[in-house]
Amino acid sequence: MRNYLMCDRRQLVRPFFRAGVRNLFVLACFALCTVVSRPARAQAGSSEPALLLGSAWYPEQWPESRWDADLALMEAAHLHVVRVGEFAWSRMEPAEGQYDLDWLARAIRLAEKHHIAVVIGTPTDAPPAWLTSKYPDTLRMDENGRLAQHGGRRQFNYASPRYRLFCAEIASRLAQRFGHDPDVIGWQIGNEYTDESFDPATRALFQQWLQHRYGTLDALNQHWATAYWSQTYDRWDEIPLVASGGNPGLLLEHRHFVTDTWRDFQHVQIDAIRKNVDPRQFITTNIGGLAWSDHFDHYEMTRDLDLASWDDYVGQGQLDPVRNGAMHDFVRGWKRMPFWVMETQPGSVNWAPINTTLNHGETRVMAWQAIGHGANAVLYWQWRSALNGQEQYHGTLVGPDGEPMPIYSEVAQIGGEFEHVAPALRDTQPVAQVAILESYDSRWAIDFQPHNRSYDELQVLLDWYRPLRQKNLTVDIINASAPLNGYKLVVAPGLNVISPDLAAQLKAYVEQGGHLVLGPRSGMKDEYNSLNPQRQPGPLVSALGGRVEQYYALDGAVPVSGTLGSGTASTWAEQLSTEASDARVLLRYGKSNGWLDDQPAMITRPLGKGTITYLGAILDAPLMQKATAWMLDGAQVKPEFSALPEDVEVCRRVGTGHTIYILLNHGAQPAQIALPGPMTDVLANHAPVTQLTLGSHGVAVLEQQARATGR
Ligand code: GAL
Repeated sequence: MRNYLMCDRRQLVRPFFRAGVRNLFVLACFALCTVVSRPARAQAGSSEPALLLGSAWYPEQWPESRWDADLALMEAAHLHVVRVGEFAWSRMEPAEGQYDLDWLARAIRLAEKHHIAVVIGTPTDAPPAWLTSKYPDTLRMDENGRLAQHGGRRQFNYASPRYRLFCAEIASRLAQRFGHDPDVIGWQIGNEYTDESFDPATRALFQQWLQHRYGTLDALNQHWATAYWSQTYDRWDEIPLVASGGNPGLLLEHRHFVTDTWRDFQHVQIDAIRKNVDPRQFITTNIGGLAWSDHFDHYEMTRDLDLASWDDYVGQGQLDPVRNGAMHDFVRGWKRMPFWVMETQPGSVNWAPINTTLNHGETRVMAWQAIGHGANAVLYWQWRSALNGQEQYHGTLVGPDGEPMPIYSEVAQIGGEFEHVAPALRDTQPVAQVAILESYDSRWAIDFQPHNRSYDELQVLLDWYRPLRQKNLTVDIINASAPLNGYKLVVAPGLNVISPDLAAQLKAYVEQGGHLVLGPRSGMKDEYNSLNPQRQPGPLVSALGGRVEQYYALDGAVPVSGTLGSGTASTWAEQLSTEASDARVLLRYGKSNGWLDDQPAMITRPLGKGTITYLGAILDAPLMQKATAWMLDGAQVKPEFSALPEDVEVCRRVGTGHTIYILLNHGAQPAQIALPGPMTDVLANHAPVTQLTLGSHGVAVLEQQARATGR
């Protein structure tokens, strides 16, 4: 850290720069120390924000004589963090057991000279050719029995004990060398864990894993109902390893096995790193698949990490602010604390069907949206394209000539703003009164058997999320099993799997005064992906005082109306009934397939000090908006900000004695905004402001003193 505080000539002539960088790094180090050094680090919001802007940088792809120029350009753009090393295994260990990390040490020293902190990626996503050719058992096998080969990446077998030994060794070497380096602030393990293996050894591991979980084959046969189609297993080694088309119990357990296997893979490296590094250095991994990927359970995977981080790409087209905002909130919920955007696109990607570019200004809005939703760092992928290699067309900050690309100046603007605003955002974070519950078991259970190919769980989540954001509310998206105290309203759009424990927790939340709203398909399955031997919502039927009589996949719209308004349902509709005398019908279906006609679509019931509600249909957006207004009203959730023009998003980060509002104009037209009270404009040196005009893709960071600091 001392290195960041050293004055260079530039700092002497630019006092603001000096103060900015110093604050930034005092905050960065403090925040990261807080994040990683105490058990309390896993608490929501225990870290203070230090806004960092940075880039993925691959010095091994360039002559060393070029490095200084790259880093000087980064510094000039106020980039203060680089992620290095991931994919550089053949440079770090050119032959088995021969390590060369000196080049990386020299790169880190040069970064220090330019006031740039370093996150080291372990290179385990891309094993060198010597490794996989000498030890082919380290290669991954796909479901069709084909072995992966060298020349791409992710060709390794995540379950291979030998591969893990190599990973532990390279991670240890790196950690021993850089674990006390003041400029290294953290570690990223591998890169976007993705592909599992279906080789015979992994299948045997799966069978052992099942044996450990079920104890006896009788138990497994019973939970999977294997009398069906003569699936009954007499020996553990008869059980297949498949990712699709199998028994739903097996498919769900395979996802659990994949989660545990990746978690073990990761743990090997966490152990190797942790024992060799300063506690201030964080350990993370960058989750890919636009956060929504479901190869494994992200809650489980991030449990062992100090920090959640994800790779935020738009791909084709323009930023979808609702979807992207929801994904930030989802990532924040993995550890219930601020997070990092470890990769994002500088303009365009190279993997979309049409690799369009973000409009001028959109990259800046996107960076600020991340901060608004709780990110403390944003890193671009990547600094410069290797002259050859599979990703030559991807967006970069400098071109093949090493000179800034047009996007560089927009990124430099963001960097300057981050430096300027960091002190005001210190110790602030999003705080929500409303939570959406997510569960991987439920997602997987529905995905294995969607029953309607149009049933898209992300869309269902967004259907529920959008109207909450339209009311300018902060929304947490959290694991269904997370503690719910403090939330006035909890909604669960797709909790297909509800175990007895989860049911008890949800019921207790309601009885103690919470307002719970369950969405379609709730409580149909138990934790083995078996049908509950009672109607939906399974173990919550008696609490609800009503149930689902039958569900219907729809191929058209069905009319719905009631005290909340009228509109339509599509894709999915459940015929509900009430049994308890205090259960009330809020919406009913109109004329439809005969079965649904005039039947309840949404029911509610008071329970203890709270209410439990069930909505059995996917409603159109206007009716969903009305239903949401009713939910908020009942839970007495007050808007956090006054009404805003349609394209403007507001994000709130709450600190002690002050609140930061980040206003984002996602539209191309200027927007007029009247503020709900006097604020200061942090980007304009705290000038007082009561109204403002946000230009096309405009951003404002406002501070209000003495606002509520809690929910
Ligand atoms: C990410 C990956 C990066 C790079 C990037 C391109 O998924 O982690 O290494 O390939 O995509 O968009």
